Amino acid sequence: TPAASRAAHHDSPLVVAHRGASAYAPENTFAAIDKARDMGFRWVENDVQRTKDGELVIMHDDTLKRTTNVEEVFPDRAPWKVGDFTAAEIRQLDAGSWFSPKYAGQRVPTLQQYMRRVSHNHQSLVFEFKKPELYPGIEKQGLRVLRDTGWLDKHHVKSKLVIQSFSADSVKTVHALRPDVKTGFLGTPAAAELPAYAEFADQINSAHTSISADYVDAIHAQKGPHDKPLEIFTWTVNDAPSAVRAAGFGVNGIITNTPDVVRKALREG
Ligand code: G3P
Ligand code: CA
Repeated sequence: TPAASRAAHHDSPLVVAHRGASAYAPENTFAAIDKARDMGFRWVENDVQRTKDGELVIMHDDTLKRTTNVEEVFPDRAPWKVGDFTAAEIRQLDAGSWFSPKYAGQRVPTLQQYMRRVSHNHQSLVFEFKKPELYPGIEKQGLRVLRDTGWLDKHHVKSKLVIQSFSADSVKTVHALRPDVKTGFLGTPAAAELPAYAEFADQINSAHTSISADYVDAIHAQKGPHDKPLEIFTWTVNDAPSAVRAAGFGVNGIITNTPDVVRKALREG
């Protein structure tokens, strides 16, 4: 098939464990990144937001409700927005029990704790500023934590870190502050718009349901801010046929809750 012959010319995509190995352990916790490591996956993805008192924490939703026991601990604090709680309050929450009693006691990591854990695990990271419009200045602050944890040295910048966001403004800000750091824009801009995005983003990271072979080719045809072809890490691919389809388009990375399923599909074609 054309897809198979096309795939033969590509390197196999990187497999990125989305929020950690989040099908098997509670997302965005140490357990989820440790699980990815134990399964043999070097790359993980996260989501970064800010507490009321200015601490950066790892959390996907803009409320604490779905992935912690916040309703039990703070019943009067609806709607339980991340930015309405202090770091000390968030530290008290259980971020594992909602997923399985086996993970009781998992905490919401601070960004600093998280970066140390990813380092300890020898992992690489797709770092997402989530809802940055809610947290003015979060890019500068996040970069400071990355610097302080050793993640902006040459080695890390070269091969272990991508910073992405759905907010083009946020990606532009990161690129302006640290032009050496690899960046990704989350979305699917029209092919004609790709040159504008290529000014500040090295990757265009689109939902797998919205890409085609032609779109991936259009991304690869454009040179990014580091004078290399733009890349695409597609998400969130949790089944074998979708993984094979995306790999056939020549995507550079596949972001997945089930990295084992994707790895197996890529091996077996
Ligand atoms: O990394 C891509 C993906 O995480 C974007 O969507 O909502 O899961 O953060 P979301
Ligand atoms: Ca994310």
